[in-house]
Amino acid sequence: MSQEFQSERDIEKEFEQIFENEEAHYLIAQRAHEYAKLMAYYRCAIMEVETKFKVLNEEFSLRFDRNPIENVKSRLKRPISIRNKLKKYGYPLSINNIEEKLHDVAGIRVICSFPSDVYTIADAFLSQDDVTLIRMKDYIKKPKPSGYRSLHLIVEIPIFLAKEKRMMKVEIQLRTIAMDCWASLEHQIHYKKDFRFTEEMAAELSQCADISADLDERMEALRKIVRKNPEKRDTIQII
Ligand code: GTP
Ligand code: MG
Repeated sequence: MSQEFQSERDIEKEFEQIFENEEAHYLIAQRAHEYAKLMAYYRCAIMEVETKFKVLNEEFSLRFDRNPIENVKSRLKRPISIRNKLKKYGYPLSINNIEEKLHDVAGIRVICSFPSDVYTIADAFLSQDDVTLIRMKDYIKKPKPSGYRSLHLIVEIPIFLAKEKRMMKVEIQLRTIAMDCWASLEHQIHYKKDFRFTEEMAAELSQCADISADLDERMEALRKIVRKNPEKRDTIQII
């Protein structure tokens, strides 16, 4: 089977071949197995990273009596999206290219309570000695023109198999509840859709993102006041 992308006619021809040619059948089955194996490795990497964030959340809740992480979501990139992204960048569809050229096959989204939590959690995660930072994009300090805010990390982490240690790439997006609210709604309205937004509509979306950033700032300021004034807390008598 060719490593290149195929037109529908090519695929039809290939299917015809499968029925006639046992060798072709065997080659396709082999590639399908390699693909399934790679996806299983990515799922393991997701489990590893998810656990790391859950552990950090647990520790923070013990030390500070609150959870800086609201939610951790994960997703494995779907086959059609993998195919489309490689095609967009002009790479042939192959197992090697999936691993080498794509960095977001395994994706984790960490939703934090306050903006400072995003950086505290990211620092704690990145300081772990089995986590290697490949790339960081800080769309909180420098939002995208759309208004999008999040901290993006591409990391490499090891997964331990029966006979080998394998390094896997994972994309992590850290953001606050407010940033996630805007991004989820904007995604439904606009992101990667063909609809051409007018300048006014784009400006409106970006202003909505500013409003959510303002909300984050004001809530964080209130939290700081509460934290810095422990004397104003009602003391709880433990009997
Ligand atoms: P992709 O090809 O989209 O992966 O772009 P990239 O490799 O340059 O990565 P980038 O850091 O720009 O963004 C990757 C991911 O961030 C996307 O798949 C989305 O999940 C999210 N994202 C980036 N920009 C936006 C945006 O304007 N709106 C929303 N809702 N999500 C965004
Ligand atoms: Mg992506």
